[in-house]
Amino acid sequence: MEIKLIAPSILAADFSRLGEEIKKVEEAGADIIHIDIMDGRYVPNITLGMPVIKSIRKVTDLPFDAHLMIMEPEKYVPEFIDAGCNMISFHMDACIHSHRLVEYIKSRGVKAGIAVNPAEPIHMLEEIIHFIDYVLIMSVNPGFGGQKFIPETLNKVRKLKRLMEETERTDVLIEIDGGINEHTIVEAANAGVNIFVAGSSIFKSENPQETIRRFKEKVNGFTVGV
Ligand code: DX5
Ligand code: ZN
Repeated sequence: MEIKLIAPSILAADFSRLGEEIKKVEEAGADIIHIDIMDGRYVPNITLGMPVIKSIRKVTDLPFDAHLMIMEPEKYVPEFIDAGCNMISFHMDACIHSHRLVEYIKSRGVKAGIAVNPAEPIHMLEEIIHFIDYVLIMSVNPGFGGQKFIPETLNKVRKLKRLMEETERTDVLIEIDGGINEHTIVEAANAGVNIFVAGSSIFKSENPQETIRRFKEKVNGFTVGV
């Protein structure tokens, strides 16, 4: 059975009551909490850092998936791990020695992922694929929540699956991030995505719990017979 996990992105949550927002999605069946870290240099936006992660670490046992949209991620990864992150992805064009950083992340018992922007090709993963735990396919340009899904990125999911087969790394998980809603989640599941990040469609919906329930129903439909 294929792994299908829902990862609400807290970027779209009400930050004045972040703890409650996380509790709410946890009760609704969220599998992972996606945390977007932006530095105002790699992307034109700034979000949050270690103190926030440390404090929300107290409210849930769900895995924390940090998506680092920052320059020189190697400088901050140790602190993100200390703060309680269980999965860390970074962008290779922001890091000079990506292999070294991947190995470091894994040496700390944390899952290591590489994030791929819409304009970046899958073949850039050809060498690093041997070492990573997951790939985060950006289905919007990083920097903001609430953007429109870029459907062409699904072709990359298919290309990535081929690369995984060629390199005998079919255990690598595929995460998709940006513009995921009731419709795009089905297309992504169909293309072979395992982890679905969703910000606005969950937190800005009238009933986030019902939305997660529906998302789970939709993606789990694809586990039958797989
Ligand atoms: C964008 C972030 C996403 C964002 C997704 O740079 O990486 O995780 O929160 O937001 P939605 O689901 O609203 O597109
Ligand atoms: Zn993200």
